[in-house]
Parts: sequence; C-alpha cells; structure tokens
Amino acid sequence: MKPSLAKLSLFFLALAPGLFASADTGSRDRLLMDFGWRFHLGDDWGTGYNLSKAAMGFGPASTVFSDASWRSVNLPHDWAIELPFDPKADTSHGFRPVGGGFPQNSVGWYRRTFDLPKADANRRLWLEFDGVFRDSTVFLNGWFVGRHEGGYNGFRYDITDLVNSGGTNIVAVRVDASQSEGWFYEGAGIYRHVWLVKTAPLAIAPDGVFVYSSFKDNVPDGPAEIHLRTQLVNALAASADATVSWEITGPDGSRVAAADKTASVPGEGHTGVSESVAIQAPALWSPETPRLYKLVTTVSSGGGIVDRTETVFGIRTVAFDANLGFLLNGKPYVIKGTCNHQDHAGVGSALPDGLQYFRIARLKEMGSNAYRSAHNPPTPELLDACDRLGMLVMDENRLLGSDSQHLGYLEGQVRRDRNHPSVVLWSIGNEEFAAQSTHQGALVTKTMQEAIWRIDPTRPITANAAIGDEFEGINQSIEVRGWSYHIGAGMDDYHKEHPGQPNLGTEQASTVGTRGIYADDKQRGYMSSYDDWAPAWANTAEAWLSFFDARPWLSGGFAWTGFDYRGEPTPYGWPCINSHFGIMDTCGFPKDNFWYYKSWWTSDPVLHLVPHWNWAGREGQPVDVRALSNCDEVELFLNGTSLGRKPVKHDSVARWSVNYEPGTLSAKGYRNGILVAEAANETTGDPASVRLAPDRFAIDADGRDVSVVAVSILDARGRVVPLASNPVKFALDGPGRILGVGNGDPSSHEPDTYFSTGALRTVPVGGWRWRKIADAYAATIPEAGVQVDDSAWDKFDVSAESGPLGLNEKGVLRTRFTATPEELSSQAVELWFGKVDGDAKISVNGRLLGGGGDARYPTIYDVKSLLHPGENTITIVIANYNTSAGINKGVFLRLQDKAAPVQWSRSAFNGLAEVIVQSTGGSGPIRLTATSEGLEPASVSIQASPGPQVAVLP
Ligand code: GAL
Repeated sequence: MKPSLAKLSLFFLALAPGLFASADTGSRDRLLMDFGWRFHLGDDWGTGYNLSKAAMGFGPASTVFSDASWRSVNLPHDWAIELPFDPKADTSHGFRPVGGGFPQNSVGWYRRTFDLPKADANRRLWLEFDGVFRDSTVFLNGWFVGRHEGGYNGFRYDITDLVNSGGTNIVAVRVDASQSEGWFYEGAGIYRHVWLVKTAPLAIAPDGVFVYSSFKDNVPDGPAEIHLRTQLVNALAASADATVSWEITGPDGSRVAAADKTASVPGEGHTGVSESVAIQAPALWSPETPRLYKLVTTVSSGGGIVDRTETVFGIRTVAFDANLGFLLNGKPYVIKGTCNHQDHAGVGSALPDGLQYFRIARLKEMGSNAYRSAHNPPTPELLDACDRLGMLVMDENRLLGSDSQHLGYLEGQVRRDRNHPSVVLWSIGNEEFAAQSTHQGALVTKTMQEAIWRIDPTRPITANAAIGDEFEGINQSIEVRGWSYHIGAGMDDYHKEHPGQPNLGTEQASTVGTRGIYADDKQRGYMSSYDDWAPAWANTAEAWLSFFDARPWLSGGFAWTGFDYRGEPTPYGWPCINSHFGIMDTCGFPKDNFWYYKSWWTSDPVLHLVPHWNWAGREGQPVDVRALSNCDEVELFLNGTSLGRKPVKHDSVARWSVNYEPGTLSAKGYRNGILVAEAANETTGDPASVRLAPDRFAIDADGRDVSVVAVSILDARGRVVPLASNPVKFALDGPGRILGVGNGDPSSHEPDTYFSTGALRTVPVGGWRWRKIADAYAATIPEAGVQVDDSAWDKFDVSAESGPLGLNEKGVLRTRFTATPEELSSQAVELWFGKVDGDAKISVNGRLLGGGGDARYPTIYDVKSLLHPGENTITIVIANYNTSAGINKGVFLRLQDKAAPVQWSRSAFNGLAEVIVQSTGGSGPIRLTATSEGLEPASVSIQASPGPQVAVLP
C-alpha cells in the first residue's frame, strides 16, 4: 500500500512573495512570546473590529485602544477552567459554561505589545501559534492578519510587511471558543506557546527540515543511511546561490557525519536540497534507550551564514507485521499504551512544558511505553518530552476529511512532527461512525494516507475504528487496522479474513474507577476502583490486557485513558464533572489499576494491596481484598496471621474475602518460592499534619518551569489518611507563583485557579462646551489648544442620546475636569468614550490620543501617564458626517483598583491534593506553606536557579 521512497515529492509551501532587494546576513531568532499579555473575557466590541479598511481595526484591534484594565496573563492560558461550574453547561465538556449557550463566556481577547529593532527591517518575520482553542482572528498594528479555524493545529503568519521595525508593535487576538470540536474538555484561549520567528530573506522554510533514517531491508544492523532534506525559501527578487551544510552530532555530543551541497534558489521562490550520509553502528532510539542525535543545518550565501537550525532526531525503524505485530528496530515490540487528552488538574488544557515531562514520567513509571494523543495533534513540547524520556507516540489528527482545508491541517501536522523519533504512527481519525463503512470513507482515507506519505514516507498510518468487524470503508483503505474496543471472536475472524493487514488496539479498556473509592456512589459521583465495571462498549483492564497478550498479532494497544480528564463523567452526570477512565486521576495520583498495569507491563516484582484498611464501623464484615502483583504467589496476613498463599495467574489478580479488624493487612510476594516483594496497608489514626512533597526541588528560574507538589494529610505516625478531606490553604514566598491546584475528585467544584482583578469605578466627566469650526482636518487648530477661554461656548450634555453637532457640521468640543492624586494612583486610569465617531481627533492636555472608533462601541484610552492632579483638558475636533452627531453616551474616567491578594486553597480528596508551583523568573528559594485547621502545617522550599536559556521576546 505504501509508495516507494522515490515517490516522495518535495514539500509544498505557500509563501508570500517578498519585496526585499537587499540580503541580510543575520541568522534566525525564534523568540518565545508567552509573557506580557493582557486578557479580557467577553466581546464588548461585537464584530466591530472592522474589516472594511486595512490598518483600521477598531476596539481591541486598534493600536490606540487601552487594555490597561485588562488582566495580565502569561501563556499558555485556558480561560475555561477559570469559569465556575454550571449544571446547565455541557456534560461532555465538564460543565464549564463556555461554548453553545454561553456566548458571554465564549469569546476572549488577548493583546500584547513588543518592540523591534530597526535592523529587523531587512528580515522576514513570522508569528507562530502552536494552538489556540478555537477560532482566532489575529491583528497586528491595526491590520487584520488572518483567521484560523480549529483548536489543535499550529499556524503561522508572515508579518514582515506589517511590523514597525525600530518601534512598538501591537498584536491583538480575538479567540472564539463557541464551536466545540470534541466530546471532551477542550479549554478556551491561547493554550499553547506563541513565537516570533525572524529570518534572513534567504532562509530555511518553516518546518523545512526533514531528517530520517533507513537501513538495508529495514533491518537496523550495520550502517544507517540518514536522509537530509532541506527546503530553502528566497524572499529576494533575484535568485540566490546557497550552500547548505549539515552536521550531525551523536548522543555523546561528538560529530558523526557531515555534508554540504550548493543550490540556486529562484527569486521569490523555493528549492529543496537533499543529501544522504551514513552513520556506522548508530545508537538506536527506543523507549528504553531514548538516544538522540542532533542535526545542525547551516545555510550560507554571499560569503556569510544566513540561517542555522537545530533538529533533534533519533535513529530507529518501525513497522507493523500482520502476524508479528509491531516491530521496533526490527524486533516484535508490544505496545503498552495509554490514550490521553491534553488536560491536567489546575491548568486545564494550558499545560506548562514541565507538566508534559511530569505526566510522561508517571506513565513510564507504570511501564507504559506508548502515548496516543487522543483525539488531536499534540503540542510540540509533549513530543519533546516523549523523545527525551522515551515514549512512543500515536500522533492523531482531529477532523477527518480530504478537502484542501483538512488536508492542509494534516500536512502541517505531519511536516511539524515528522522529525520526532517518538512519533511512530499517524492516526487520521477516531471512531468516525457515519463514515467508517462508506465508500466515501474509503476514498477519504486513501487520500489522507497518500497526503501523509508524500511528506513522510517512513511511518505507518492507522485510524481508531469503532465498528467491530467491518472491513468495507475506512478499514479497507487503512494501512494498520485500529481496534476501538470489540475484543472477542470477531477480532479473530477479521484477522483470518484479512490475513495481510496488521492490527493494533488503538483504544481499549475504558474501565472506570475513582481513586480511593471501593463502592459505587451515584449520589457523590464516585465509582469503585476495583476494575470490575466498564461501560457496555468497553472492557476492564484485565479483560483487554489478557485478550491482547494472548494474541501477539494485535501489537498491544492503548488503554483509555492514562489520566482522568474533564468532561465525560461516565456513567454519571452532574455533579460529577470529570471522567473516571484514568489509570491515574487528573493530578497524576495513581488509582489501583496503576499497579495492575505495572504488574504486567514491567518485570521487577510488584505487589500492591487493595483496598486501604480504614473500615471503622465495619468490624467483622467481609472486605474484598485483592493483591495486584506479578509475583507467582502472594500470601496475605491480617495482624500477622496468614490468610493463605494464592497463585497469581498471568494478567490477573489474587483475591481474598477478609473479615475486617483494624490493624495491618500485609502481603508477601514470591517468585520461584523466594520472597521478592512485601506490601502493607495499615489502619491509620485521625488527620494530624500536612505534608508537601514536590516532584522537583530545583526548577529553572525562567518564569515557566514548574514543580508539582503532592499534598498529603497524615496521621500522627506519618501515614496518609485514606479518607481525609481536610481543606488546605496555601501561601507562597519568593520568585514563584501558584499556577493551579487539584485533588482528583471527579465531583469537586472547588476552583482550579484563583485570581483577582481590581474593582472598576467610573467617574463621569462633564462640563462640556462646544463651538462650530470651518473644517475639522487637524487636531492642532487654535480652538483645540489647552489654554483657550471657552466660557462663552455652548454647553452640551455629553451623556445625552444624541451629540451636539448637526449633520455635516464640524466643531471643537472641550472640557476641563479635575483629577485627584488618589484617582491617579489607581492601577489603571482610562478615559472611556461611550460613543465617538471614527474621524474624531481626541487630545488630552494637548497630546493627541487618536480617533474614535466604530460608533456602536465605546472607545477607551489609557491616560494614566497623561493626566495630572488638578485640572486637565480634553479637546475633540470632530465632524458629523452621519447621524450620530459627534459624541454622546457619556465620557467617563475609569479607575481600576489594585487587585487584592487571593487565598489559594484546596481540600484533600482521599488524603491527597496537588499544587503546581511555577517560577516567576528570579532565582532563589520559593517557599510553599500549607495550613489546615487543627493540623500541623507544612512548608517546603523549591530552588529556582538559572537553567537552559530559551530566547524570550521581551
Ligand atoms: C470512545 C471514544 C473516546 C471516549 C471513550 C470513553 O468511544 O473514542 O473519546 O469517549 O469512548 O469510553
């Protein structure tokens, strides 16, 4: 089914022709734009951002608009988790009032300013968004730049022609999350990174480096052939000669291969340059040995270096075989995977990079070697974490379709992610019920598959297919048959009928459970975590794993899901707000199934006892006890008395019924008769203290890095109290902030995040007078001066429904008003014009602010630095060319108080909670303190120190 490598056509790129005539020898800058944004929830400007004239965006899209009273935020940012839960909101999206039915919460605006040096006039500039949920409209310096639909794909704009080099620039992004794309929590806002990329006019094209390896007969013995492909783009009018140099360093940093090649790049065009080099005895990448190589691609032209990029890659082979299953580096390799949404306690979909590493590390601890980015393209930093820590990735597309928009998104995803060694498989879609069995489904699949192979000939492709044994349609075209549930005889029959098609359990399990809960409780929205119940379409962990382990041709599979996520609270609804499918909860605290998987996905002895041993009031009654273990035999003891030794069947668990008595339930695990593991659950006392345990005691002082702090409620002997739900308050000192809190309780309605905004006061600005003038072209006419005696001018009421000017009349409007020192010490000081025509020229104390806006919406200016205590003057030179009569609906001084400090808190859920602490940029100790009434408090210090430098746009 797969085309030969020779068929690979060079990458297509749509590039705006450049206008530059002179070359610049500066090389590439890629600057992170996460800091210094202002955010406003709501679309108080309607669609008034004005597409009718270039560079004349109204409202927040305008360069002179004041965002001084907006909240300061850093990216990544998800405003959906900041909203209170609402039982009327969508169940599957986790009851956050955003999207359909909640227009007031579904549009947000982001703005930030940045300065550029003069030298940037000779460079190409790109604004890159890694992902925004969902539809975005971007403005730069008042210009409409572009719109992007869809919440999961990266996109970029060439802003070269629009920037002020040597001056200040303003980017405004309107984000509309009204339209959902999934049936799970999706977040809202700019929830991934934004970058400013600067290159010389002759440069490597965006995503224009592709490096992959091959071996003779796809067997990774002997030398690897490394294929180097570089796409060059030339924005100059004249063609340019370029030399591309490639240098590869190995995992130990030593140089292992190099090559170069010259090419001529046509003016306003692009060219692909390819070369191959050999690496003898390469160090192969795998989850167990995540060895990484680095390719440095340098482009020289006109005697200087014009571009340089670094690409991390790995050398490995992947293949699927219809009988042997998945092959990694030539050997059968069982996929021990989990499906996951991009969602974590405290932060929603806006995961800081450090949290990606935290989550991948947790999954690896369980023995998992594969991650499915369900059901959407992942953020690049997730793939970096998988490359570095060693985790295979099934990289999934969101929307199935073969029109130009769908294919464009798919191609962008493949082009961006294809250098990551962790990515071993593309998925074109998930459970497309209506399309799966149709002729169109087969054709769309074929087209999408071919589009991928043109850009990446090295990876297999699958789709998660929900309809069991159906071959017609998507399954008939797809390379690797992906099985969504449906274990049973139908799978064996399918395999017999289609003996040449490889298979994979792309989505399995979906067993439900709540951490620390051992009986279903509909009222509170909890499910027992004994691994006894899965929805009708799904299976328990034990059922799917034992079925797949007995059939190597199935390649292993991906359990639904590694972590709980917001939304889909199956089998419940309100008040339950998140899923129970996770093997870990939303914080990454393990549920019992974690040890079930660890038992059968790792080889060192594992022994874990279920349940906890705090059953006061149930003395003498039977408790269902299970040992999750990969030992041959487990012996159970209650208060030192043996309750018998039992064999543990492969992929299964050992069970006992034990009459409860407080004390110690303990177990010993044996392999070949030798004691290899021990475990004990003790009856604890009442809560006595709080403990804080950071996953990292040292973080980078970069304003982004995080430490994930586990909060435990302990008894007097230091044991976690399994049912404790004490409320805990947090305080923090030093160069850090609390980013979010959680506890894994699927029915908790406590906030994930706390913030406050200063109260807004409005003071009417009255005392207006006006007079007619002959023309209103200039703001500097004498009548608009500061020292003008206007006492004989006509008075008018600025808050009236209609302004003073008749149609086609021109005039100067002015007022003097007093501002107090107290007012001017406010956090934000703005002048707010209810309605003022676009051609107005508004000055404050002789300084021109700008014009009005769309007469339907208020116009707001930041005047904090323009007003002084005492008397101030506003003048407006204006003509009334329509019927709004100039200015009306009031003028106000809008004053915002400083935001009050917030009190962070979270209750423990079954003994545990989580706090995510983030660096604010400075170095030094960050001290987190936790207090809870009646308990001994805890405090912990996390050191922030300079780490690897990421270039940041100041
Ligand atoms: C699948 C679906 C997942 C999730 C899961 C719950 O059918 O692909 O997104 O909804 O069911 O069991």
